Amino acid sequence: MIQGGSALKGTVTLSGAKNVALKLIIASLLCEGRVVLTNVPRIGDVEELLHLMIDLGVGINWKDKHELEIDPTTLKNHKVDLLYGSKTRVSFMLFAPLLHRFGRALIPNPGGCRIGERPIDRHIEMLRAFGAQVEYDSSTGYYSAKANSGLKTAKFRFSKPTHTGTELAIMLASLIEGQSTIENCAREPEIDDLIAFLAMAGVKIERNDDVISVWGVSKLKNNKEPFTISFDRNEAVTYASFALATKGDIEIIGASRETLSSFIEKVREAGAGVEEKDNSIRFFYQGPLKATEIVTDVSPGFMTDWQAPWAVLMTQAEGVSTIHERIFENRFSYAPELIKLGAKFEYFSPPVENREDFYHFNWKAENASPQAVRIYGKTKLHNGVLKVTDLRAGATLLIAASVASGESVVLGASIIDRGYETIEVKLRQMGANIKRV
Ligand code: EPU
Repeated sequence: MIQGGSALKGTVTLSGAKNVALKLIIASLLCEGRVVLTNVPRIGDVEELLHLMIDLGVGINWKDKHELEIDPTTLKNHKVDLLYGSKTRVSFMLFAPLLHRFGRALIPNPGGCRIGERPIDRHIEMLRAFGAQVEYDSSTGYYSAKANSGLKTAKFRFSKPTHTGTELAIMLASLIEGQSTIENCAREPEIDDLIAFLAMAGVKIERNDDVISVWGVSKLKNNKEPFTISFDRNEAVTYASFALATKGDIEIIGASRETLSSFIEKVREAGAGVEEKDNSIRFFYQGPLKATEIVTDVSPGFMTDWQAPWAVLMTQAEGVSTIHERIFENRFSYAPELIKLGAKFEYFSPPVENREDFYHFNWKAENASPQAVRIYGKTKLHNGVLKVTDLRAGATLLIAASVASGESVVLGASIIDRGYETIEVKLRQMGANIKRV
């Protein structure tokens, strides 16, 4: 329940990045002994993954609120449970440790947010290039992977970049002795954390633009010192959007310019204030917001995860804004919810010369729907009953309800908990009138 209308002010400290923590928990299973990770966010997706790990026999021990010890030596099962596997998108990344440990893996079709079809064809093609035999059984919903004649080094090029696919390839190559080269890789900075973690375990990895070379080893050392997970830049964008949409002023501890540059550029273009400090960035309202045009892109471009919160901001900007989504085919699920509050959206299809190349999902004419919206601002938002459809859309609805007049109900808040640690506590500290019921 949110009573809107108050400007959010104060400081907020970011949690560890969801999209790093999940991968490092899985990569820990490649190591020889116990691994300790710190700054691990206490979020639903991490908890779900840990349930899955425990079911596989992995030892899990919270040493501190955000410090997690993982014991891979007790891993005993090569089959991922259907229920646990369906609850976490990254379960298919277990192909790497399970294939290395058992020479086979049985993993259900991945779950996670329904922001598009989200096939894993590029991952499968990559696994095959490294020597795995992969089949899908539609009667059980399971992928079966085997490495009968062992995994081998590869030179592989992704047909289009994939973030988790790139990470899976790095994990796989790390335990195959010799050099593997992966081309047309994703460029997200979260991948650097995985590279740093594996480097600490003894793997040499070089990243040049979109080409990654991995010199795999036969054994991965477990880390002596805890490995610290970077702060969550998607969480930073969410709180920055709260600040600007509510005409507030928030300092975000842990936010860094390097991973947020394209967002900061747009904030300045919209006429809002940004003050960069040593270990934080302050975002503040300083007068009427201006309309902007966004085309989502892979890093270092404006991320797909940022367009939903940005859309709320643009309902408060003067003029017509546009958002063109390139990465996923179904990422405007928040728009009908914002329309309920009085926002004015219009779907449209911008002219694009070669859609198959331009869009990062597998674009097909027969399934095509508009990939862009126009947002007519500035609109006065009123309260409503809103339904969360996916993680980023969920956080976006909280922003909209904070801007709106009156009290709103946001249903399905547990989806937001999948990626945001104690969001209502952090928001209350900045003056939000929010309660969980
Ligand atoms: N794709 C395919 N086939 C594949 C792989 C990808 O068609 O084999 C398509 C996807 O469906 C999508 C596009 O290619 O349309 C890009 O997908 P990518 O694989 O890069 O995305 P992802 O790895 O599934 C990760 C994050 C997302 C984030 C994107 C983009 C994790 C767990 N998820 O997804 O984060 O939006 O990269 O950076 O790392 C979130 O945190 O809420 C979230 C959705």
